Amino acid sequence: MARATFTRMSEATRDDYLELASGAAAQRNAFADDVLATMAALAGTTPEAPVDRLEHCLQTATRARRDGADDETVVCALLHDMLVPLAPYSHDTAIAALLQPFISERNRWVLAHHGIFQGYYYFHHFGLDRDKRDEHRDSPYYDDCVRFCADWDEPASDPSYDSDPLESFAPALRSVLGREPHGYYGVVAARD
Ligand SMILES: [Fe+2]
Ligand SMILES: [Fe+2]
Repeated sequence: MARATFTRMSEATRDDYLELASGAAAQRNAFADDVLATMAALAGTTPEAPVDRLEHCLQTATRARRDGADDETVVCALLHDMLVPLAPYSHDTAIAALLQPFISERNRWVLAHHGIFQGYYYFHHFGLDRDKRDEHRDSPYYDDCVRFCADWDEPASDPSYDSDPLESFAPALRSVLGREPHGYYGVVAARD
């Protein structure tokens, strides 16, 4: 495939953009594979913790699935800590932004706030307010985030837990990430 020759976006033609869109479509086809590879790379990380980060995410997702959560929520549980290595100071809002085009506002909100809600279990050990989550009491998603943490994320450091393997989540992951994205990206994707 030949490279386009424009040097700035305002000079590119409609044909250039259609060509770029088809390249982006190929990239999107590999999106789920890239996410799965990113998850797999979490194996063996966090040697100081009772379980590695992949196992923590698998436990969180397995607990969600065994509680009857829908596929989208299970995928959010699976990926909730995926970006900790790349976004150590904003992993909650980072994964919320990554998944936002494909998920409900409820699940986006829960992902974006799970860091503060998890703080209920440890912020006090650092002299912080463990009830900081209560600043969000008025949110319609407050109880969802409390449950996400209490039932799935908080207990997911158990080396004896029988987690489902990463591959078992692949169909749900491909389904959610294969959805028509919200927003203007969806319009561009529809041109492919
Ligand atoms: Fe987290
Ligand atoms: Fe977590």
